[in-house]
Amino acid sequence: MLLPPANWLPQAPLELLQLDWLTNAGIEVAILRLDQIDPLISGNKWFKLTEHLKAADRAGAQGIISLGGAHSNHLHALAAAGKRLGFETVGLLRGHPQQTPTVEDLQAFGMQLHWLGYGGYRARHEPGFWEPWQAQFPNLHAVPEGGGGLAGALGCKALKEQVITQLNNLGWSDFHGWWLACGTGTTLAGLVLAEAGAHPVYGALAVPEDHGVAPQVEAIVQESGLAVADYAVFDASRGGFAKVDPVLLEFIESTERSSGVPLEPLYTGKALLALKQQVEAGRFEHGTRLIFVHTGGLQGRRGFSSCS
Ligand SMILES: Cc1ncc(COP(=O)(O)O)c(C=O)c1O
Repeated sequence: MLLPPANWLPQAPLELLQLDWLTNAGIEVAILRLDQIDPLISGNKWFKLTEHLKAADRAGAQGIISLGGAHSNHLHALAAAGKRLGFETVGLLRGHPQQTPTVEDLQAFGMQLHWLGYGGYRARHEPGFWEPWQAQFPNLHAVPEGGGGLAGALGCKALKEQVITQLNNLGWSDFHGWWLACGTGTTLAGLVLAEAGAHPVYGALAVPEDHGVAPQVEAIVQESGLAVADYAVFDASRGGFAKVDPVLLEFIESTERSSGVPLEPLYTGKALLALKQQVEAGRFEHGTRLIFVHTGGLQGRRGFSSCS
């Protein structure tokens, strides 16, 4: 049994974000704190996993095997879920053995680790890649890198419900759109599916535009059969995935100081800074209300000493 008990329903608080640059522009932002759903399991990664866990459960699997890097938020959430819910986890890691805070957690959560080297990891999209692993772990269900694809997106549809049920607490009857960080675009695609055109979904790209986020979102939308998709993506990568710069770090520090919301530099910090740039460029009308999704990832910032 890989699924959580029926009474284990992670609830992300929805809070108003108080920042001068929003107030000055007459824009209100509520932040959906996926970083706060559970002490161990954090962020969008849990929602991306849920449909994969259901598929694994239907297939009678006893656990999950998946892939990621030595700072992977996905492997971290997967290993934490395995520990929390009592199923086996195996992680295939990029590169050569190294100890990072994330790797230490994976081991402490009981995930079995296999290091593939760099060439071995690059082969993950080749046909036949999974065969030897499936032979070695016949009772495990394979989940693609990052928990992506249509299954990952379907799990993220639940985020809309989390917001709708809390709007009243803010005194909001509705909102005008979503803003969130994108790596593969799976989480954004899930919101696009949930909205079916009702509210636009804006994605801040944590990766350069040539990483193909838009085509991946399009592929998920097509596969789902959705007729109306309302979304747009903005470059937020600041020169490349995982590249940090003084302006970003200063923005994260000052945001944390004035709002009390912790951010990390790869996804949430870049996404909020990209929103600030769009607000200052006049992208949104006075009176606009947006939902900013805090997609978690805080465990990964231990790899960045300047903001840990
Ligand atoms: C903290 C965090 N935020 C956002 C994302 C982006 O999610 P997605 O790959 O679904 O676009 C990821 C992972 O890629 C992540 O780890």
